[in-house]
Amino acid sequence: MSYKQQYAEILHGVIGEELTLEQIEQLIEQPKHEDHGDLAFPCFMLAKAFRKAPVMIASDLAEKLENPLFSKVQAAGPYVNVFLNRSVVSREIVGEVLAKGGEFGTSEANGKTIVTDFSSPNIAKPFSMGHLRSTVIGNALNQISRKKGYDVVGINHLGDWGTQFGKLMVAYKMWGEEEAVRAHPIEELLKLYVRFHEEAETNPSLEDEGRAWFKKLEQGDAEATELWTWFREVSLVEFQRVYDLLGVQFDSLNGEAFYNDKMQHVVDLLEEKNLLIESEGAMVVDLEVEGMPPCLIKKKDGATLYATRDLAAAVYRHETYHFEQAFYVVGGEQALHFKQLFAVLKKLGFDHVDGMHHVPFGLIMKDGKKMSTRKGRIVLLEEVLKEAIDVAKQNIAEKNPNLANAEQTARQVGVGAVIFHDLKNERMNNIEFDLEQMLKFEGETGPYVQYTNARANSLLRKGNYDGSAFEGNDDDYTWGVVSMLNQFPVVIDRAFARREPSIISRYVLDLAQSFNKYYGQVRVLEEDAGKQSRLALVKSVTVVLTEGLRLLGVGAPEEM
Ligand code: ARG
Repeated sequence: MSYKQQYAEILHGVIGEELTLEQIEQLIEQPKHEDHGDLAFPCFMLAKAFRKAPVMIASDLAEKLENPLFSKVQAAGPYVNVFLNRSVVSREIVGEVLAKGGEFGTSEANGKTIVTDFSSPNIAKPFSMGHLRSTVIGNALNQISRKKGYDVVGINHLGDWGTQFGKLMVAYKMWGEEEAVRAHPIEELLKLYVRFHEEAETNPSLEDEGRAWFKKLEQGDAEATELWTWFREVSLVEFQRVYDLLGVQFDSLNGEAFYNDKMQHVVDLLEEKNLLIESEGAMVVDLEVEGMPPCLIKKKDGATLYATRDLAAAVYRHETYHFEQAFYVVGGEQALHFKQLFAVLKKLGFDHVDGMHHVPFGLIMKDGKKMSTRKGRIVLLEEVLKEAIDVAKQNIAEKNPNLANAEQTARQVGVGAVIFHDLKNERMNNIEFDLEQMLKFEGETGPYVQYTNARANSLLRKGNYDGSAFEGNDDDYTWGVVSMLNQFPVVIDRAFARREPSIISRYVLDLAQSFNKYYGQVRVLEEDAGKQSRLALVKSVTVVLTEGLRLLGVGAPEEM
């Protein structure tokens, strides 16, 4: 139970039935200034019932609120302010963290499912910065959702279907070399794709051939299917290297192609409800009333589209997983697509659309420009991650040349730096990509938090922490740390409700900072008296920092 809830119960006992427990809890505030205590209850709502001025009620109540939980109760105008008994409370909070360990802040399983559509790169194309963002944000949301007691199904909705595969087949058959593709799949396939577009400018019949080959693929032609399967497999091998570096897993790799035989079902549904109309030969759902352009379902030549596959996927996922919520972690550029998708589902009468959310995010910029995989500004993600690991390795070699598992630690620090940099600001913000900045040990970086945690762990080793309990302290530095620890469950709630991992990142930064203040002021190891108790507090900080970083998908080395 939170201290707010406990205060509410104590107040409820004194106030009686004029207000419900829930009402009281909702009224309790956290004072802006610490001179006004830790929690404050405003008495305005009671004035009518008690036929008294709120100021009078406050002073009456203050007199009746004696409790070991409070070190001081004070009426301040119409407010009843309480000061928590820091010794008692800090003992309780640290005790809870140590008893629960990584389970601190975990909600009980609620039997509900969230389906997350994330990462979702396109076959035969480089894994872009945007896909990195989706992967990292999606993964964090999955961890946060699991922490909140949900079952999570993480789906990589691969872009493995569409006319571009017909074009790629044509290009491969004309100019491709098997060996080259085997050696560097994505690089070669991208080259072929680019060449196709160059040649098609002077030879438009190529486009028709491309469409014809996609048609073959849709109809299950053996050669087309074989090529497609191959392109898909070699691309996935490359993507997997990035996922392994990031430590990200999926429950399903059902991409767009998976819905090839499931689209007719939604087209039928749309027809049944008279929602399909013809427009310039194509089939569309009109969304004029909703203030949007029509949603394209079938092209003139009968080919299906991105939106058609997303409709089929939404129906399939609901039938298969019975999700309560579905998150689509996809860049803000696709906002209209998802609005249209949800609008069409609504027209179809799918109630569960209310639990479906587009989770958009901003761009990654380099020197003020969008980082793109086209126009020469190609940044292959794997290279970025490897570079980050290399820089981390150099740092370690300089600072701690004798570190035991330097290799693994460099990975955790390098990759963690990239992930943390992505997650530290609200997701809708654009990010400036700056490797040097990300890897700094000071400031708002992943390595700063990791380093703080490693330092705390080293205190535990040096002081031979023996698992003792925390005895409680009431100084400001201890209280600074303890009140941060106490916030962790609420912070998780907020991050989940807003689908905003940055709330966790900000929190671990703040907790690290409060611990560094403590460490700067309190001599943890110097005196024997109370040493094990102080180490218990240090231990609780490592527990929560490690768990907070885990929710973000960032490792927490014990030594670095
Ligand atoms: N493959 C798409 C792209 O790279 C993203 C897919 C997102 N998910 C979805 N269900 N539409 O733009």
